[in-house]
Formats: sequence, C-alpha cells, structure tokens
Amino acid sequence: MENIAGKKALVTGGARGLGKATAIALAKEGVHVAITGRNEELLKTTLKELQDIGVQATYEVFDVSDLATVQEAIAKLNASFGQFDIIINNAGIAAFGSLVDMDAETWTNIINTNVLGSYHVTKAVLPQLIEKNEGDIIFVSSTAGLNGAATTSAYSASKFAVIGMADSLMREVRKHNIRVCTLMPSTIASDMSKDLGLTDGNPESVLQPEDFAELIIANLKLPRRAMLKSASLWSTNP
Ligand SMILES: NC(=O)c1ccc[n+]([C@@H]2O[C@H](COP(=O)([O-])OP(=O)(O)OC[C@H]3O[C@@H](n4cnc5c(N)ncnc54)[C@H](OP(=O)(O)O)[C@@H]3O)[C@@H](O)[C@H]2O)c1
Repeated sequence: MENIAGKKALVTGGARGLGKATAIALAKEGVHVAITGRNEELLKTTLKELQDIGVQATYEVFDVSDLATVQEAIAKLNASFGQFDIIINNAGIAAFGSLVDMDAETWTNIINTNVLGSYHVTKAVLPQLIEKNEGDIIFVSSTAGLNGAATTSAYSASKFAVIGMADSLMREVRKHNIRVCTLMPSTIASDMSKDLGLTDGNPESVLQPEDFAELIIANLKLPRRAMLKSASLWSTNP
C-alpha cells in the first residue's frame, strides 16, 4: 500500500461538498492540503478545520475556467506552499434541462468549468509531477459521464469528456510514474445534488461526501504498479 502522509495535495472546489470532505480526509491521513474555489469566506472556514487537524494548509481563490488565472494562482501556491504530489480535480457545476431550452451560456459554462477547468489545473500542475517522476491525479466524473439522460446533455458531455481526457492522460504519463484515476460517483449529498432535487434529505438514501472521500483515500493508497499499468477508471456503482 502507498504511504501518503507528508505529501502535498491540491483539491479544487475544496471548501464545500465532496471537495471539502476529501480535503479533510487527506489531512487526517497527514497530507498537506491546498484548497481552491471562488468563495473566500468558505475557503477560510474550511482552512481553519484543516489547520486544526495539524497539517500545513492553505487556500487560493480562483475560477478554474480561465487558464491565465489558474496558472497565476498555481504559481502563487508553489511559492508559498510548495510543489504538489496529488491533484484532485473536483471543482464542478451542474444544471439540467433540455438542449433546446437551456441557455447557451449555462451550457457553455458547464463545459468551461468541468472540462476546461480540470484541463487548466492539470496543465498548470502536471510539469511538477513529471519533474518528480511521481504523482497522482484524480478526476471527478460522474455516472452521468457513463450514460446520458434526457436533461443532461451539457453535464453528460462534460463528464464523458473528463473520462476521455483522464484515460488519455493515464496512457500519456504512466511512464513518469504518475497515476491517473477517474471516479464516477452517482448521487452524493451536497449543495449540487440538493439544488438539482436529487436528494430527499434522508442521509441514508444517498452516499455522503465522507463516503466519497474514503474512496479517494483508498485509491491513493492502492499499489502504484498495478494502477499504472491497468486501472484508470473506477465507478462507485459499477
Ligand atoms: N453531488 C453529486 O451527487 C455528484 C455526483 C457525481 C459527481 N459529482 C461531481 O463532484 C464534484 C463536486 O461536486 P459537489 O457535489 O461537491 O458540488 P458542490 O457542493 O456544488 O461544490 C462544487 C465545488 O466546485 C467549486 N467550483 C464550482 N465552479 C467553480 C469554478 N468555476 N472555479 C472554481 N471552483 C469552482 C465550488 O466552489 P465555489 O463555489 O467556491 O467556487 C465548490 O467547492 C463535481 O465535479 C460534480 O460534478 C457530484
């Protein structure tokens, strides 16, 4: 099993929902964590929780959909926090509606955030992992990235694309001892699933963010050699 204590992780969208649970789970494993998002107040609150666990932690405010902004923010984090070993590409948005009715701006924002956002962050951080000849990149797709539904053209397009990007990247960087893994969860209790009307408020009926975080930690601890060669895709409901 891999020992992840002492590593440095970047968790996008780390102030709330799945990203926050992941950041906290990583910190409990002794991983130093940088969290990002657009809401500084939320980032500060989660930062305090991470620091209380006893690891090094920091945050940076940026929108993942703009490459120049992402590159600037990553450079700042590298200067103050250090180079990363782990990238968790978690930040994402969702909206459901028919292709005809959904306005083009909403449709495009979903692609810009979920696909380009993950691409921008990976492009900015990956050279550090290549230089170290070691690293882990986890992408958060969705079961909507495996099957479409009548109202999910934008969200499914984005999450299918994430799987394609990650699967290609896995083949590109395994020679650098970098593992790339994609999680495809079904509904998990969060602001997103609540806003979409996917949860009924009963915590027993869907996965909780902490369950998702457990899967991230389990993936990071899996034997490196086997995953480099064969395992790129993981689903929470295969
Ligand atoms: N919850 C589910 O049922 C479910 C199922 C499958 C997959 N997922 C995926 O899991 C990931 C996390 O979802 P969640 O349920 O935790 O959603 P959430 O509660 O709505 O949180 C989304 C996170 O992404 C960040 N974010 C969104 N747009 C951003 C942008 N343009 N730039 C920077 N950060 C941005 C948000 O931070 P700010 O608002 O501060 O920017 C927030 O931290 C997403 O990729 C989602 O598609 C969720």
